[in-house]
Amino acid sequence: AKAGPLAGRRVLVTSGPTHEPIDPVRYLANRSSGRQGHAIAAAAAAAGAQVTLVSGPVAIPDPPGVAVVRVETARAMLAAVEAALPADLAIFAAAVGDWRPAAEQGSKIKKDGSEPQPLRLVENPDILATVARMQEGRPRLVVGFAAETDAVLDHARAKLARKGCDLLVANDVSPAGGVMGGAANTVHLLARDGAVETWPTLAKDEVGRRLVARFAQILDAG
Ligand code: C5P
Repeated sequence: AKAGPLAGRRVLVTSGPTHEPIDPVRYLANRSSGRQGHAIAAAAAAAGAQVTLVSGPVAIPDPPGVAVVRVETARAMLAAVEAALPADLAIFAAAVGDWRPAAEQGSKIKKDGSEPQPLRLVENPDILATVARMQEGRPRLVVGFAAETDAVLDHARAKLARKGCDLLVANDVSPAGGVMGGAANTVHLLARDGAVETWPTLAKDEVGRRLVARFAQILDAG
């Protein structure tokens, strides 16, 4: 068995964007790189945990010592998360597409000179909320992320309550900050009792290590 502050713990991490197919060659996606989620998975493995990383399509390498399950869509991510449970700690760092096209066209949509068809969207399952509200087998510590561009703390507080998770990591992803796709991150850690920690701007790898150290403390205390 491995040593470290998360030795003997099972950890689940989601990371990256999702791709929601429109037709066989097109999809809806977002600018998530997967860097923060992958850094957390790597740090959890280095801390001795048995880690499953459920990742959307990313261009970065698999973290060492982690079991990686690759998915494309939000629905596939939810199924992979459910299959990876139980876990002691679950961290939902993926930028899951909120919506998907209502129907995936079986063949490439053609440009035929007429008015383009509107793209009808339907809501994706909320993976974090689904796990946070599980009646049986809920991980002891469920952590959500909030990528916000304004009123970061206000939106994050509301999100923590709405999702039913235990902790929320909020980051400011306004374009000027370069967080989305970048190597650094400025995070706020919010707890259900109202406590807020604001951390200095740090490399995503360091944010991953510090988050993992905090999660280990909380699991040990509880
Ligand atoms: O509601 P919003 O997308 O801003 O919430 C972000 C948090 O919820 C993140 O932890 C993200 O991984 C999670 N989430 C999810 N499934 C969704 C949407 C968001 O797990 N469909």
